[in-house]
Amino acid sequence: MPVITIDNKKIEVTAGTTVLKAALENGIYIPHYCWHPLLSISGNCRMCVVEIEGRPKLEVSCNLVAADGMVIKTDTPAVKKMRKSVLEFLLINHPIDCPICDQAGECLLQDYHFKCSGQASRFKEEKVHKSKVVDAGRHIKLDNERCILCTRCVRFCQEVVKEPELTVAIRGDRSFITTAPGKTLDNPYSLNTVDICPVGALTSKDFRFKKRVWFLKSTPSVCPHCSNGCPIWIDHADEIMYRWRPRQEIEKVNGIASSQLTGNTILCDEGRLSYGEWQSDTKISKPLMLEEGEHKEISRAEAVLKLNKILSKDMKEIIAVLSAQISCEEADAFVKFLREKAGTDKIYRSGRAPLNPTSDDIIRKADKNPNISYLEKMGLRELPANIEGDVLFVTDSLSKDDILKTANLKWKSIVQITHDKRLIVPGAEIILPRATFAESEGTFVNFNGVKRKFSPAFKPAGEARTIAGWIPFLEEGITGVMSFLRKQESSDRLI
Ligand code: FES
Repeated sequence: MPVITIDNKKIEVTAGTTVLKAALENGIYIPHYCWHPLLSISGNCRMCVVEIEGRPKLEVSCNLVAADGMVIKTDTPAVKKMRKSVLEFLLINHPIDCPICDQAGECLLQDYHFKCSGQASRFKEEKVHKSKVVDAGRHIKLDNERCILCTRCVRFCQEVVKEPELTVAIRGDRSFITTAPGKTLDNPYSLNTVDICPVGALTSKDFRFKKRVWFLKSTPSVCPHCSNGCPIWIDHADEIMYRWRPRQEIEKVNGIASSQLTGNTILCDEGRLSYGEWQSDTKISKPLMLEEGEHKEISRAEAVLKLNKILSKDMKEIIAVLSAQISCEEADAFVKFLREKAGTDKIYRSGRAPLNPTSDDIIRKADKNPNISYLEKMGLRELPANIEGDVLFVTDSLSKDDILKTANLKWKSIVQITHDKRLIVPGAEIILPRATFAESEGTFVNFNGVKRKFSPAFKPAGEARTIAGWIPFLEEGITGVMSFLRKQESSDRLI
């Protein structure tokens, strides 16, 4: 394998690796705009120049294959001067509208200017004006004056999504990005162009002007929208989620970086925009009880007393359906409770019925549940048709088919732990509020067995807690011994 030296650091690289990739993988940062790990090399921005010992001119590192013995310097006076010149050219026609640009705080033009240049503009002439705030598609606004023509967005549509929706029109300093004739930027992965745009040319209509990025906190999590379970950042402030972004994983799975296994550095628009579903007005924050056909809020103590009435009389046949929306930890704890305390082995699996069962061979999976693999591995079978019992426990939700299976049967009671009123199973008598994946920690196992952990972005709303957190109260309901409840009344919530 070739051995090269970058800034006095000896690095062994795989044959064929470019200098830029070798540097980035070894913690040496070379500024760059047009290069992106998912895309072909364009080499148009010239920002990634480096000096090679023994060669007369600076060379672009993104398109330079590392050769054995190569000695590379990334920060010499000549390299610095070149970067400064590239930035000066890029800024000649740029509107420098950072105070009103939604990219401020995560803009590579802004960052590199401060890091590599810092000089005031010497350009006194009229700037070239181009189209601004154009609707490029359902989710995207395009501002051509801010664009640096790196063509990442064009290549992303062509090479990753295979939908050539964007193109570069005209030549020279009048060039601009536009939608191809008869097309709009509406592919199912269009919002990734906002992530990969290094400047504020492409912005998300959903996120524009909602929050300055420096007010956001980012929590590592997992997209629960389908069984691909993509790693995400939840960007949030004041217990509100503002956006989800793709997260590059660094942890290894069986010695291989898991992003290499899955290629997940993108998100589908459908999953990315589903964050709103988790904070709708229909979110449940207090226990609910069915009274005269309506679900009314009750206290936790009332809920436990009602559970006691439902569970503690004669021998009951309890059936439970675990949703593939719950975490591995919740599933383990609930199954243990059902077997050891509730005395039942009639435990099945279900899931959220997809509103829109879209799938493709990029990342979207038709199964819209993030933890189906784990429930299958636990040996839980699908709910049989016409199953009967006295009490039906439902965690999170039932699929449409499973609702039909239970709808015509005379359940004495249905107890459900869920986070949203829209998921309540018709006839459910007691609903306990469930902490969502954004409010708790846990693990999902995706369709091909990759485990991913998620962390709480903020605390659960009101009385909500995880399924594991509700188990002591369910045990109280079964035993009728209210000591745990009394202890908990005055203490902090378990989550
Ligand atoms: Fe190498 Fe643009 S990143 S030329």
